[in-house]
Amino acid sequence: MFGALFDFARPLLHRLDPEQAHELTLKALEAGLYPRTARRDDPRLAIELWGMRFANPFGLAAGFDKDARVVAALLAMGFAFTEVGTVTPRPQAGNPRPRIFRLLNDRAIINRLGFNSAGHAQVYARLARRAAGSGIVGVNVGANRDAADRASDYVAGLRCFSEVAAYLTINVSSPNTPGLRDLQAPSQLDALLGRLTQAREELVAAGKPRRPIIVKLAPDIAPADLPGIVEVLAARGVDGIAVGNTTLQRTGLADARSGAEQGGLSGRPLFMHSTVVLARVHQLARGTIPLIGIGGIDSGTAAVAKIEAGASLLQLYTGLVYEGPALLSRLKAELTTYLARAGHARLADAVGCRAAAWAAKPLPAV
Ligand SMILES: Cc1cc2nc3c(=O)[nH]c(=O)nc-3n(C[C@H](O)[C@H](O)[C@H](O)COP(=O)(O)O)c2cc1C
Repeated sequence: MFGALFDFARPLLHRLDPEQAHELTLKALEAGLYPRTARRDDPRLAIELWGMRFANPFGLAAGFDKDARVVAALLAMGFAFTEVGTVTPRPQAGNPRPRIFRLLNDRAIINRLGFNSAGHAQVYARLARRAAGSGIVGVNVGANRDAADRASDYVAGLRCFSEVAAYLTINVSSPNTPGLRDLQAPSQLDALLGRLTQAREELVAAGKPRRPIIVKLAPDIAPADLPGIVEVLAARGVDGIAVGNTTLQRTGLADARSGAEQGGLSGRPLFMHSTVVLARVHQLARGTIPLIGIGGIDSGTAAVAKIEAGASLLQLYTGLVYEGPALLSRLKAELTTYLARAGHARLADAVGCRAAAWAAKPLPAV
């Protein structure tokens, strides 16, 4: 019923300013207006990672529920996990509005939100009120725009959320905080991860749980820089890599006017590029580091491609804006059909099975 309600509401939502439409969606979710899945996921879709069982590989990407307002609703809709954030230590407003733009004909979005965040304390309080053990919730942490030492902000995020987050994502790939992506340079990344892993050891020594650390990369990393970056991530023993964030690239867009807006591009035009980079990371890490595939997943075919290219988990955001919540059950059904047809008993058997072919593709211009 709510799927149908969304189909009815979508043209109206798409007539509103995108940020107003988003706020309205969050309010609807807070009010309990969302489709719940009673159906259990097909057991073939389940995957074990980091000592956790994900009932299916689909998660909601960071940026949708930045302040942990609707975690329970998203899990009840059938996502196996959701990623809160990006959260900054101190609350901050982000960039001036308008700062989200729809590219309807491209099935894409450009955003330059710039880490609008309620801040650590408020997001922590919301997550701490949740019942323990009810679903997998990761927290994506970032740095305040005016941070004197950005690495300290990430360490503060790890310390703050270790107790309430199933995993931590280190977001060094947002294009909307000037200079942030410099943290992906191997020497800076190494120093940052050194501090984070040390902080985690201290937490573990103090009796706190040891949480997986995931690093979220930009799809725009120059191909020549990728090996050095993956080498640092492997040497520092990160638990996962998310590929990836939004892109600054812009070629081939139908909507030239909105396409000219500054910010990060997400959605369908990002799919090919982000999938090739995902496969290259899989090859460079020799399949030893679990990957989260993100970017332009809006069909079963796209989801299957990400898994075959090397993703163990998937996250989506923009596809949901255009397809509505019914997309999730379609993705699950199509992935289940694929596994049966391809003769994979479990999702894990399909992970990376075509990584070499994907990695060898030329990087398409976005
Ligand atoms: C409006 C908007 C806000 C976002 N905010 C964040 C964020 O705060 N942190 C982050 O790591 N990624 C953020 N993202 C990026 C998404 O998590 C995801 O990596 C990207 O949109 C590509 O996936 P998609 O094509 O399925 O949307 C945001 C994306 C959008 C569209």
